[in-house]
Amino acid sequence: MITVVGSINMDLVVSTDIFPKQGETVLGNLYTTVPGGKGANQAVAAARLGGEVQMVGAVGLDAFGEELLAGLKAENIQLDAVKRKEGASGIANILLSEGDNRIIVVPGANHKVMPEEIDASKDQLSTSSIVIMQLEMPIPVIQRTLELCHENGVPTILNPAPASGFNRELLKYCTYLTPNETEAEEIFGEDWLQALEQYPNRLVVTLGGKGAQFYDGEKLVTVKGFPTKAVDTTGAGDTFNGALGVALSEKMPFAEAVRFANAAASLSVEKFGAQGGMPTREAVMNRMEGELQ
Ligand code: RIB
Ligand code: NA
Repeated sequence: MITVVGSINMDLVVSTDIFPKQGETVLGNLYTTVPGGKGANQAVAAARLGGEVQMVGAVGLDAFGEELLAGLKAENIQLDAVKRKEGASGIANILLSEGDNRIIVVPGANHKVMPEEIDASKDQLSTSSIVIMQLEMPIPVIQRTLELCHENGVPTILNPAPASGFNRELLKYCTYLTPNETEAEEIFGEDWLQALEQYPNRLVVTLGGKGAQFYDGEKLVTVKGFPTKAVDTTGAGDTFNGALGVALSEKMPFAEAVRFANAAASLSVEKFGAQGGMPTREAVMNRMEGELQ
């Protein structure tokens, strides 16, 4: 069982031709709501790839909460440890423009999860094959999860996004850390390449379309990304992490697991929405064999 401890958001997506400047009003092309949240996205990515997945987290008592739970259920994700909290569900205000995105997250129910709830899920966590986390949850919750998994010998993936909440304590207990370049720089400074050597086969830095890099104990390994036609890159990192979780829980060798995750991420950006393009196992295998979908 793969467990994701993480955020569940409704993404409020607006697209426009140009980003408005400060104080400026522009007309948009589209407004829609789609399920998101880094935790939920990772869970959905893992489930579509054939992982047996459960989530620990929370949504609000609002209509979004209802819709978000129904979406996760439809992906066969186990939700016993997802609680309803007084007030609003987490939302992400996503502005798509100029081939890029700008996101504001308002955590809502996600930030009402308490470390005690992690203890209450101890049985589920300690029997998991891997546990995946991000930083859209309260840091004490992440910390408690890492400690508990460490005590029980359960491997963990910490995706330090957004990196602003990161502290070195978290590095102590996580098995794998998966920052992108910006996050790596925020955590390790400009010479984050050196940090790779310090954490061989544990620290992997994602490079967007260029793939990912890690140090294998002897040398720097760059696992190239797959060519793709990006429509919407929202959730690409989450797809990478969900897929990496599936691969590592199946004991794939590290470089192969990273390649599998790259392939999944390259497919995910070809459709609109964070979860829109998340691929099936078959699609990933096809891409890895070099067949274009
Ligand atoms: O990583 C993408 C996700 O970040 C979006 O789905 C949004 O909800 C934010 O959490
Ligand atoms: Na997508």
